[in-house]
Amino acid sequence: MRVLITAGPTYEPLDPVRFIGNHSTGKMGYALAEAFAEAGAAVTLISGPTNLADPAHPRIQTTRVETADQMYAAAAAVAPAADVWVFAAAVADYKPREVALNKIKKDGDTLTLELVRNVDIAATLGRTKRAEQFSVGFALETNNEEAHALDKLRRKNFDLVVLNSLRDPGAGFRHDTNKVTLLEAGGQTTIFELKPKAAVAHDIVRTVLARLAHSHA
Ligand code: CTP
Ligand code: CA
Repeated sequence: MRVLITAGPTYEPLDPVRFIGNHSTGKMGYALAEAFAEAGAAVTLISGPTNLADPAHPRIQTTRVETADQMYAAAAAVAPAADVWVFAAAVADYKPREVALNKIKKDGDTLTLELVRNVDIAATLGRTKRAEQFSVGFALETNNEEAHALDKLRRKNFDLVVLNSLRDPGAGFRHDTNKVTLLEAGGQTTIFELKPKAAVAHDIVRTVLARLAHSHA
């Protein structure tokens, strides 16, 4: 089994020394890479900038990228041959319309930046998904959590969406723990307890493997 995983933030440059980014640590995606590799899969981990070392597992191949465009190109190259796609990256929704060639100088009391939409990696690849492929997405929501997550499942052609509610203390960015609900295209909903991200990763892998075994039976 081949698994493609995106992880970490993307950095969208403004000029040679500045970028727009976010606080994603990459821990959830890296934990998923380890869990799939331990389950016997060959994993391609496409990671934005993180402080984490490349996973040492011999079945994990790590590719480093910075921007959403680079992450999309790396993922698109691997996606057709992968059985499972996991979109764990916190991709910047927008990027600066123009990247200044030189450092932007301070001038005036305000600065207005024009941003343009980034490619939606999961949705774009989702339109190419074959019946035997399985796509997993993440949704980090603060309100109407399940409705927003199910909307993403449909829009991005996910088979399973991992919902993180930011209302749960100890869940989401900057924590080593996570509390997730798995929502599936078939209508199943599974609510898990707060647990370390490695344990959350195993819950997700177990669910994906069970669905694949069932669909190939
Ligand atoms: N995603 C992606 N490419 C993007 C944005 C999101 O691949 N440009 C993926 C994420 O990796 C995640 C899922 O889509 O698996 C949902 O990300 P999220 O930011 O919650 O969804 P958006 O569609 O960007 O909606 P919004 O931020 O407005 O809630
Ligand atoms: Ca987003």
